[in-house]
Amino acid sequence: MQSILKYLADNESRFVDELCAYASIPGVSAQSQHAGDLRTSADWIAKRCETAGLKTVVHETAGNPIVVAKTPGHDSRKPTFVVYGHYDVQPAEPFDLWHSPPFQPRRVGRDVFARGISDNKGQHLAHLIAAEAWLKSGHELPCNLTFLIEGEEEVGSKALYGFLPGHTKELACDAVVISDNGIPSLKHPALTYALRGIAAFEIRLDGPSRDLHSGIYGGSLENPAMALCQLLAKLRDANGRITVPGFYDDVAKLSTYERRQLARVPYNEAKYRKFLGVPELFGEAGFTPDEQRSARPTFEINGLTSGYQGEGSKTIVPAWASAKVTMRLVPNQSPKKIIAAVKRHLQSLCPPTVRLTLKHGHGGEPYLVDPTGPLAKAALRALKSGFGHESVLLREGGSIPIVSAFKKHLTADTLLLGMALPDDNPHSPNEKFSLDAFAAGMRTSALLWPELAAA
Ligand code: BES
Ligand code: ZN
Repeated sequence: MQSILKYLADNESRFVDELCAYASIPGVSAQSQHAGDLRTSADWIAKRCETAGLKTVVHETAGNPIVVAKTPGHDSRKPTFVVYGHYDVQPAEPFDLWHSPPFQPRRVGRDVFARGISDNKGQHLAHLIAAEAWLKSGHELPCNLTFLIEGEEEVGSKALYGFLPGHTKELACDAVVISDNGIPSLKHPALTYALRGIAAFEIRLDGPSRDLHSGIYGGSLENPAMALCQLLAKLRDANGRITVPGFYDDVAKLSTYERRQLARVPYNEAKYRKFLGVPELFGEAGFTPDEQRSARPTFEINGLTSGYQGEGSKTIVPAWASAKVTMRLVPNQSPKKIIAAVKRHLQSLCPPTVRLTLKHGHGGEPYLVDPTGPLAKAALRALKSGFGHESVLLREGGSIPIVSAFKKHLTADTLLLGMALPDDNPHSPNEKFSLDAFAAGMRTSALLWPELAAA
């Protein structure tokens, strides 16, 4: 084991250079002009898998390529683990809030700033490098490893959903390992045992057949922007509860054990408030902020559009207004059931003065796994050695919808071992990744395989 860890420590500067090269490819999956960059990203990581000594295939799909790379010489007597990650990244806008260009990685001390570097390039690269360390230092891995790196995670993983059912043999495994989530601090590594699910749609209200002069006509017809605001405002009460009938029916309660585990995570309200840049926190009454953002469902407005947004003013009653919304769902809520309930509720609330259209977006099931099983315990041991600190158990608020498809098609549980820190700014300007987390992640990954194989 020592020579594997030495390989990781001795070659760190090369790994950082590689991380920067990878993070400089602008593979934004939400924007069609980046299709070529997504292919470049897939090719880059495929080549890096080959260099690590893995047998690599780039699968073409109707969308972005899916990279599957395996340790050589599959041994059926050993367990097999899949490491999942994504090479696509979120849009970098608004560009002017970045302190340096998002696709020109900039190192400051032990941090590197770039879009996608901690969501999720740095983490799956850390796993890949750990596998390389095993292979290049002449040690026999105690398990088979399959890397599965996709390019549409940030937009709903459509290609991978289509790919999974036909590739269950190629991806057969005893468990999936993912590091596309966070940890509270380098001193608090974490095993995440639950993720929120998601249901996305667009609400559109149409009013007059065109934008109208607000002086001549305003007052005699509904303003779609106002109607939309009133509609949306009815969806949450003063206690932060969502008012859609049935919304909380299937919500799994937090156990006392879970609440105690979550309470071990360090929390300072003033610091948290300052970090978020808000004058006051707001959330569902009766729950701590950590509980609110990981174990309670929400209804979020992600974008609002209506009327004139250009320079100066334009006096109109806009023809339409729309909102992009997502709900974060928790175990055991079903996206289908919740979408139907919200749809019914919106229809019942919509005034006859406007026409309501709902356009469905992506959806994903929430995820929950037993944090006390043998694989979880093995992962906790690896985390402790890799980070040098005892782990906490976490539920996370973000979503990785494909995790429940892994359960369904591969009948495999997923272990979530985060490496991102709370100030890494995923999806925000100035995203960064800590090189200390990168190094601890590599060590944890190298130590994980013997632990999991023996579990
Ligand atoms: N890495 C995140 C998910 C995440 C973040 C999980 C923090 C746990 C903690 C992932 O890349 C992501 O952003 N997922 C999307 C999924 C959506 C587009 C279906 C999300 O959560 O918004
Ligand atoms: Zn993301």
